[in-house]
Amino acid sequence: MTKGIFITLEGGEGTGKSTQIKLLQQALSIAGVGVVTAREPGGTDQAERIRDLLLQRDSGTFDPMTEALLLFAARREHLVHKIWPALKKGQWVISDRFADSTRAFQGYGMGLDMQVIENLYQIVAGKFQPDLTFIFDIDPEIGLGRSMKRLKDSALMEDRYERMGLPFHQRLRNGFLEIAQKFPERCVIIDAAQDIQAIHRQVLKVVETRYGVKPKEVQNG
Ligand code: TMP
Repeated sequence: MTKGIFITLEGGEGTGKSTQIKLLQQALSIAGVGVVTAREPGGTDQAERIRDLLLQRDSGTFDPMTEALLLFAARREHLVHKIWPALKKGQWVISDRFADSTRAFQGYGMGLDMQVIENLYQIVAGKFQPDLTFIFDIDPEIGLGRSMKRLKDSALMEDRYERMGLPFHQRLRNGFLEIAQKFPERCVIIDAAQDIQAIHRQVLKVVETRYGVKPKEVQNG
């Protein structure tokens, strides 16, 4: 069904995914590739409403299963109204997070049974999978520090997950690394402690090797 390429960026908090998405989008666009960017939870009007519910500090706590159901409801909206139509047109879609975040946050982090997550995935997305996933890996203490600073500077109140504590974020990191081992054909681990341009070059190299496009490095800023 799909003609475009679906790339996801995953990892803990404060790994610099958004910056890398911006650079990759620019580099691919200059190379003549049509690119759509997205984020989860969110990406469509309805899914952004679910995002607000899940991320806001004052949303309180949810049962992990409820949380997964909300995330997969948002994901379904995102797939049906944005990701699949763009791929069908031959565009590339780059998403800041996708289902590996549910495996990591709600599965490894909150202890929701992984089979429940896979069952929900099957219902919502069937056999569809990302073509390529970058797992951004960083010491959670460094990542959380960066993320809290960004949230403080922007006055956003989207910090419900940041406030879940270091042991939670350490479980996430291990979870993402296990996911990369489980799906080696689509996952590439990126050392997110490197500088921005070095990571950008590494990302471009993987894309070039896999898909034969030749995007040139773009400077950040
Ligand atoms: P971010 O845009 O800053 O990465 O925030 C999204 C937050 O939502 C992040 O803390 C991870 C969390 N999240 C989950 O817990 N499960 C999911 O499936 C997704 C997509 C995100």
